[in-house]
Amino acid sequence: MKIKIAIIARVGAHKDFQALGLKSLVSQSHPTPFGDSNPIHVFSSQDIDFAVLSRHGEDGYQVSAPFVNDRANLYALKALGVEKILAWTAPGALNDCMLPGHLVVPDDILDESRNGPQTFFTNQGLGFIRHNPVFCPELRAQAIQTLQNGPYPFHSQGVYVATTGPRLETPAEIRKFRCLGGDLVGMTLVPEIFLARELELCYVALAYVVNFAEGLKERPYQPGILFEGLATPAELAQVQKVETGFAELALSLLPGLASTPRHCPCAWLMERYRRRGDIGEDWRTWFR
Ligand code: HPA
Repeated sequence: MKIKIAIIARVGAHKDFQALGLKSLVSQSHPTPFGDSNPIHVFSSQDIDFAVLSRHGEDGYQVSAPFVNDRANLYALKALGVEKILAWTAPGALNDCMLPGHLVVPDDILDESRNGPQTFFTNQGLGFIRHNPVFCPELRAQAIQTLQNGPYPFHSQGVYVATTGPRLETPAEIRKFRCLGGDLVGMTLVPEIFLARELELCYVALAYVVNFAEGLKERPYQPGILFEGLATPAELAQVQKVETGFAELALSLLPGLASTPRHCPCAWLMERYRRRGDIGEDWRTWFR
């Protein structure tokens, strides 16, 4: 079985594929030098084997953003043979044209997180990797092409501001992020994308906006509900539509993403170190 593509997604994402009638061929967590990965489910659709991993847990929000073991998750996916990642993510909007329920294919990142570790290469002189383009340009182009024919309003660019979480931002932080040029704010893509790049994986993110970020709209505080009133019931209903359609949308993206050739720089990001003899051909030997 060749699992070349993985979807990293929301809580219990594998159940969304099961609900469409797909059967998990394998479901297990994998031991790695960085700890155990989250469970990885393997499915097959349209002659493509693909892996599904939920960052935050399978039966509820069990692991909050700063405690996701991105290194173990990505290592395990790479060990399965994965070369490409579709990262599904649910940020808030800094840009008021990006409405709850809209999709965004981000093209850049502003890292305002204070979470570590952001590298596999602790205590090694490796990993001085250029980050432009940040996301895989080939997968981005392919995803945008598919979305053009789909039912969801989407934006083909956006700067994702990464925060640590789990708390939401203060109004002043949001004003700062908007001044800096951010369009979205979220807690999940960093350090995930930076680690994926160290493993020479192609990585594209598909964001669906779940709320306007703090302070963008007048929103009274309402204890005891999701985001304490930051999102209105009408906005959450829009979000629910995208969440309900998640697996179907992912399956529509899969053939294009799986067949996209890797003409991008992603597969060669560590080439300088290979040429210098610092690392070998087998990526498993790279880390001390
Ligand atoms: N800020 C950060 N992360 C988020 C938000 C937000 O407003 N909404 C969903 N994830």
